[in-house]
Amino acid sequence: MVTDNPHLRIKGLTARYGTREVVRNLTIDIPRAGILGVIGPAGSGKSTMLTCLNRTIELVPGASTSGTVEIDGVNVRDVDASDLRRRVATVLPLPVGLPMSIYNNVAYAPRLCGVRHKDDLNEIVERCLTQAALWDEVKDRLDQLGTRLSGGQQQRLTLARALSTDPEVLCLDEFSIAIDPVTTMRIEDVLMQLKSRMTIVLVTNLLMQARRIADVTAFMMNGELVESAKTEDLFVFARDKRTNDYISGKFG
Ligand SMILES: Nc1ncnc2c1ncn2[C@@H]1O[C@H](COP(=O)(O)OP(=O)(O)OP(=O)(O)O)[C@@H](O)[C@H]1O
Ligand SMILES: [Mg+2]
Repeated sequence: MVTDNPHLRIKGLTARYGTREVVRNLTIDIPRAGILGVIGPAGSGKSTMLTCLNRTIELVPGASTSGTVEIDGVNVRDVDASDLRRRVATVLPLPVGLPMSIYNNVAYAPRLCGVRHKDDLNEIVERCLTQAALWDEVKDRLDQLGTRLSGGQQQRLTLARALSTDPEVLCLDEFSIAIDPVTTMRIEDVLMQLKSRMTIVLVTNLLMQARRIADVTAFMMNGELVESAKTEDLFVFARDKRTNDYISGKFG
């Protein structure tokens, strides 16, 4: 789909590990302030595609890319990598608790970015934990180690940490893999609220999750974008037989 004034524009993106291409000539516009769902079988290149958006793929030895990713019309190669990663934050499939207090998990990145005043940090910590639907459960024990929380709480802490730099783009890679359905629904509600002011890219292996909350859904297979469309259209009248087979459970 081609969009006017997209937030991110991916053009002819190819990503390789060594000589093996795992994302091939991918072109898609990611609209501003909405949720793009990305679905596709295991190994189709979804996670790799996400790492190209904030250039974390450059941290993988032997990986290389060609083609372009633009954010607000600027090639991400021309954006300072740390700035880019503050603007395009990622929540990984398994919660990655930093071995420090709940408070410091969230205050860590803002401190690195120069926020010093206690009141400002307190405000950021409360706002991000509230947005991540975790504040009520932890507000009385912010000094406790983040790694002592339950799996679902740690995943929400990871989300709070991703929000702490006030990113423009929030990428989530199968965030619900390690959490229960109730927490999953709570985070889905949070994403629905956040999307009015943030662009969200949601990689999910739960087709129903994409169907519930994504505005546009993209289907990837073998490194290629097979098609993307408004979510209800993709799920009801997919144009490509491979998409239909996947969403009707014939493979994957
Ligand atoms: N660091 C790496 N080094 C080498 N190959 C990799 C690396 N990461 C991923 N791959 C390979 O690249 C291909 C695409 O992987 P990727 O993780 O992007 O797929 P995915 O669609 O996210 O899959 P899943 O649904 O299982 O998470 C796979 O064949 C995988 O084995
Ligand atoms: Mg993946």
